[in-house]
Amino acid sequence: IGLQREVDALLGDYLSRKRANRESFPTAPFSRSSSTDSFATDEGLFEQQEPQSSASPVMEKILRRRSLHLRNQQQNWQESPEGQKMQQFRRSLPANKEREALLAAISQHQVVVISGETGCGKTTQLPQYILESEIDAARGASCSIICTQPRRISAMSVSERVAAERGEKLGESVGYKVRLEGIKGRDTRLLFCTTGVLLRRLLVDRNLKGVSHVIVDEIHERGMNEDFLLIVLKDLLPHRPDLRLILMSATLNAELFSSYFGGAPMLHIPGFTYPVRSHFLENILEITGHRLTPYNQIDDYGQEKMWKMQKQAAFRKRKSQIASVVEDALEAADFREYGSRTRESLLCWNPDSIGFNLIESVLCHICRKERSGAVLVFMTGWDDINSLKDQLQANPLLGDPSKVLLLACHGSMASSEQRLIFDKPPDGVRKIVLATNMAETSITINDVVFVVDCGKAKETSYDALNNTPCLLPTWISKASARQRRGRAGRVQPGECYHLYPRCVYDVFADYQLPELLRTPLQSLCLQIKSLRLGTISEFLSRALQSPEHLSVQNAIEYLKVIGALDEREELTILGRHLSMLPVEPKLGKMLIYGAIFSCLDPILTVVAGLSVRDPFLMPFDKKDLADAARSQFSCQDYSDHLALVRAYNGWKDAERDYSGYEYCWKNFLSAQTLKAIDSLRKQFFFLLKDTGLVDEENHMCNKWSRDENLVRAVICAGLYPGISSVVNKEKSIALKTMEDGQVMLYSNSVNGREAKIPYPWLVFNEKVKVNSVFLRDSTGVSDSVLLLFGGNISQGGLDGHLKMLGGYLEFFMKPDLASTYLSLKRELDELIQSK
Ligand code: CDP
Ligand code: MG
Repeated sequence: IGLQREVDALLGDYLSRKRANRESFPTAPFSRSSSTDSFATDEGLFEQQEPQSSASPVMEKILRRRSLHLRNQQQNWQESPEGQKMQQFRRSLPANKEREALLAAISQHQVVVISGETGCGKTTQLPQYILESEIDAARGASCSIICTQPRRISAMSVSERVAAERGEKLGESVGYKVRLEGIKGRDTRLLFCTTGVLLRRLLVDRNLKGVSHVIVDEIHERGMNEDFLLIVLKDLLPHRPDLRLILMSATLNAELFSSYFGGAPMLHIPGFTYPVRSHFLENILEITGHRLTPYNQIDDYGQEKMWKMQKQAAFRKRKSQIASVVEDALEAADFREYGSRTRESLLCWNPDSIGFNLIESVLCHICRKERSGAVLVFMTGWDDINSLKDQLQANPLLGDPSKVLLLACHGSMASSEQRLIFDKPPDGVRKIVLATNMAETSITINDVVFVVDCGKAKETSYDALNNTPCLLPTWISKASARQRRGRAGRVQPGECYHLYPRCVYDVFADYQLPELLRTPLQSLCLQIKSLRLGTISEFLSRALQSPEHLSVQNAIEYLKVIGALDEREELTILGRHLSMLPVEPKLGKMLIYGAIFSCLDPILTVVAGLSVRDPFLMPFDKKDLADAARSQFSCQDYSDHLALVRAYNGWKDAERDYSGYEYCWKNFLSAQTLKAIDSLRKQFFFLLKDTGLVDEENHMCNKWSRDENLVRAVICAGLYPGISSVVNKEKSIALKTMEDGQVMLYSNSVNGREAKIPYPWLVFNEKVKVNSVFLRDSTGVSDSVLLLFGGNISQGGLDGHLKMLGGYLEFFMKPDLASTYLSLKRELDELIQSK
């Protein structure tokens, strides 16, 4: 009864707030009238792009006048001295020669596929050609061109570049829009946005009213969003005969896309790059005199990740294949050419570890021995880039520190940092850019002469059988390796250092597997439903390459269990809200519950922490100290998530006293990660504000933030069905999940250090299969919390819920208690699902 009262109070509180907000809370699906609708505010940018109907004569006149104004503006700029200089540069790009052919094809065909070497001018020029030709034809004010980019940073940097080429500021005729950010004005006719933003626009505007051209860039990357968008656009084309679709790709696999669109014409822009010399590992060892670390010794880069890589059976197979290829090739190779030290070195080459030291040797070689020119280093991720940057900054062998400009380039960097990457450094200064594979095709750094390619990229993969997602560094494809190499030949002949033997390159796959086939599909399925695109599996069967049946079924099942889809595979209200939050469904659900149950602050930290990465560092040599530091945040509450909340709060307090770094140092925390968490927390808060679930003035959303049991319950609501039972044995703790049986805790979990866990259940964020299944980030929860917050009892879902929990039915041995809980649970779910 006490519990029920509490729940009633919480929900009553929530409902009364909601009633007060009724106007602003979108109750019906896609109700566009509400003022706080996320699309209206967040993407308010789009209203102005809406149809400029020329139905009335007055409107027609206005449009004509505006078009003429645009034409005059364009002419004035092109005739000015700077404008002419810019025009000269633009005319020198390979795309310029094809300008007329491209425009003709676009006007004659609804779909056109364009390919061309990176840097030939697809992204910056083609959308401009279209815009200019519309303006010249006095249709400037009525055209609306959208060009999608797979990444935020490219949408932002490209739009800035294009505006500069047009002699304008961003927000005049050119704008951009990425999640939570954008610049666009009344007269913006060319908008660069992320693919996700266009998909979200389709949610509210299925026909893309008023849009005249859609350009989907970088389709060769085969990102999930792009593949998804293509299915939607393919369906849309017959309803919008006037809409033009242009697909752009950096590689020559255009046939695939052309045939998908019924044999759309393909145009190729012949490019020009200077020749680039390839050095594979065997030559590099000779040039630099570097010795590789023997296979089984700890190396600073790869070993830490070794266990992560091993969890992937497919990868293991690939690895042994590669290792044996290396050995065979080395056996056969004639080593007189290289000398025996290289041979020895290569035999102990560990494909899992591309030593920082090796990269460092190559960079030292370039800085000391090679001609001038910028260096671009391809690495796998943000954290490695930062560590290598620190290591390099301390290295005297790179020469005079004032002569070396070290820069990082990855998706989450600040825009001010971005600009430095493109700028030419002062004479005599060597620019070294450490980048993720983002620099492969989407951005072009002009002055690069040397490329260092580690051969890997972080790739998401998904093991449908174990229902386990992973994000791991994996070998790149031949196409990627070629792209990376090509980056060195933009301004003069270049050099590319591949940090793997030639024989390994020979076994790379030709192209990377499309993302749709290697990621969990839950978020995508939600989007399919919210766009009302019909049955999930039917829709996905129409993709360029459709995903496995099992992956689709797993995703649907999961969405039903968390209450986002009902029995008929239709979106529930919760599901609709989840589809509007651009985070994984489990994190979205946690946010929504956190807001409803007024304990948002700690939940924001947990969700941001889970979407960035663990801020607790794991140095090899001080593992015990680091583990001890982490468990001191646990305060006997058996939760990694609550430990994270405490660590974050402690850091915030320390920051206020200007001792943030000291605090991080003492507690083995990464300040950089904490900062990333901090900024994501803010973004999530604004998202929730947009949906009307919280309002800033009223601090109700944190009324219960100090109630750790409630926070635990909300964590459970999000992470369910990631749950294992706990049985405390005399000397150990036995953990079991329904699918895997016996499981273990990952060694740095605070729960891993406990002798007993006084909770019957652990909810966990992620399980990873190595030899046994390991759980990461867990929180202890009680029976009542699991019953009330785990899963959902929607219509007809009660049986399912019982079955889910029924594996460990002990609790239901007390029938009246069970039925009380179940009716409470039903009420709770109905309340959450209602309105
Ligand atoms: O899309 P694609 O790879 O074909 O080339 P692009 O991004 O349109 O770039 C064309 C040219 O514009 C590049 O070769 C660079 O010289 C220049 N550019 C630039 O100077 N600054 C930028 N932010 C982007 C491009
Ligand atoms: Mg491009």
